[in-house]
Amino acid sequence: GAPVLVDISQLETGQLLTVEWRGKPVWIYRRSEDVLDALATLDESLRDPDSSKAKQQPDYCENETRSIREEVMVLVGICTHLGCSPTYRPELAPADLGSEWKGGFFCPCHGSKFDLAGRVYQGVPAPINLEVPPYHFQGDNTVIVG
Ligand code: FES
Repeated sequence: GAPVLVDISQLETGQLLTVEWRGKPVWIYRRSEDVLDALATLDESLRDPDSSKAKQQPDYCENETRSIREEVMVLVGICTHLGCSPTYRPELAPADLGSEWKGGFFCPCHGSKFDLAGRVYQGVPAPINLEVPPYHFQGDNTVIVG
């Protein structure tokens, strides 16, 4: 499949954009400082916080935020359990997700939870983190997926 060019110049903090790449949904999301701070506190709750157990990202995204630029998240939006598409749940501590929830992606099919770096929580059916697709930047405002 051809690479997909995505203009993120209008992407606001906290906004999620979905594009299609090789027939899959790819999410691009602009993280706030608060989100970045929260990501740094979640390790104990996650199955593979440093993404070392499963190769679900390119080498250049093997870091805490699983991204090239910490403020820009790029993920394949397909649950690593059985392939449903998780729902973006940015709110803090909603009634159905509990007081520990700091925003992320919730899979409605069997309840898997992922943070805003696509890292899977412990105690859910999904075994590994969400996939980070190959991508790079062209200038400040274009993401090229693929
Ligand atoms: Fe997402 Fe089962 S497909 S939890």
